[in-house]
Amino acid sequence: MKAPLKIGSLSFRNRVLTASGTFGMGKEFSDFLDYSQLGGITLKTITKNPRQGNPPPRILETPYGLLNSIGLENEGFQKVYQDLKKNDYLRQYDTNVIFSLAGDSVEDYVEMARFFCEIEGIAMLELNLSCPNVHEGGATFDSNPENVKRIVEETAKTVSKPFTVKFSPSQDFVKNSRIAEYSGAHAITISNTFLGMAIHAKTKTFVFKNKTAGYSGPAVKPMALANVYRAAQAVKIPVIASGGISSAEDASEFLIAGASFISIGTLNFVDPGLAGKIAKEIE
Ligand SMILES: Cc1cc2nc3c(=O)[nH]c(=O)nc-3n(C[C@H](O)[C@H](O)[C@H](O)COP(=O)(O)O)c2cc1C
Repeated sequence: MKAPLKIGSLSFRNRVLTASGTFGMGKEFSDFLDYSQLGGITLKTITKNPRQGNPPPRILETPYGLLNSIGLENEGFQKVYQDLKKNDYLRQYDTNVIFSLAGDSVEDYVEMARFFCEIEGIAMLELNLSCPNVHEGGATFDSNPENVKRIVEETAKTVSKPFTVKFSPSQDFVKNSRIAEYSGAHAITISNTFLGMAIHAKTKTFVFKNKTAGYSGPAVKPMALANVYRAAQAVKIPVIASGGISSAEDASEFLIAGASFISIGTLNFVDPGLAGKIAKEIE
C-alpha cells in the first residue's frame, strides 16, 4: 500500500523534497527550478544566535561524496524572523516550505518553533537535532534521548503546524525515532551527514579546522538506505529519507525501503534542477 501524501494535516503534491543546507533560503534556486514540481523545499538551518560558520576550507570533494564543515553559518533567529515578518517571500512559492531550525538549548527549539509557526509562508518545521548542544559539552542533541523527548513533547504542545525531527546517523536513530513518534512528532528525517575526515598526508595536517566533517553524496547511499529501512520498521509516522539520492532510481529504492518522502541534498550542487527531474521521473 502506498504511504499517504501527507505529514500530519499537510498535503504534498509529490514525495520529492530538497534537503536542508543544500538549497539556501529558497531564493538561490528559484531561477533553476520550478518549485511547483516539488512536494516541498527545506531551507537551511537557522540557529538561535547568528553563526559565522567555520573558517575555510569548508568543502572537500572526494571521489564519491562531499565532506563539509560549514558550521551552520546563518544570520540567527531574530534577524531571519524579523525579515520574514516584514517580507514573507516564502508565500510566493507554490510548494510546501519546510523551515529548519536548531537551538542551543531545549527551550530555544520550542521558542523558535513557536515564532516561525506564525509565518504564513512556512508550511512545516524541521527540528535539526543533529547539531551540537553547547550545554552538554558539544555532543549532538540527539545523543541524549531525554533531549529528544523534551524537545518533541514541548514543540508538539506549542506549535500548530506539523514538524519533522532530523537525526544524526551516528546516534541511536532507531530509538530516537520511536521517542519522537510517541512524543508527538509528525515525521522523522533520516538522516543528516555521516562523520568523515580528511588529512593531508604530505603535511600530516587535518584538512578541516574541526578535524571531522559531515560526509554526504552518492557514497553514503547504501548506509542511508539501511538506516531508512531500520527507522521505517520502527515507526508508523512518515520517514523523510536523506542521503546520497542522485536519481529517480535511488529515490525509488528509498521509497521501497519504507520512506514516505525523499530529499535531494548534495546533488543540488551538481544539478540545481535535479529535484524537479526526479519528481517528474518517479511519477
Ligand atoms: C554543504 C551542506 C550543508 C548542509 N547543511 C545542513 C543544514 O544546515 N541543516 C541540516 O539539517 N542538514 C544540513 N546538511 C545535510 C543535508 O541536509 C543532508 O541531510 C545530507 O547531506 C545527506 O543527504 P545528501 O547525501 O543527499 O546530501 C548539509 C549538507 C551539506 C552537503
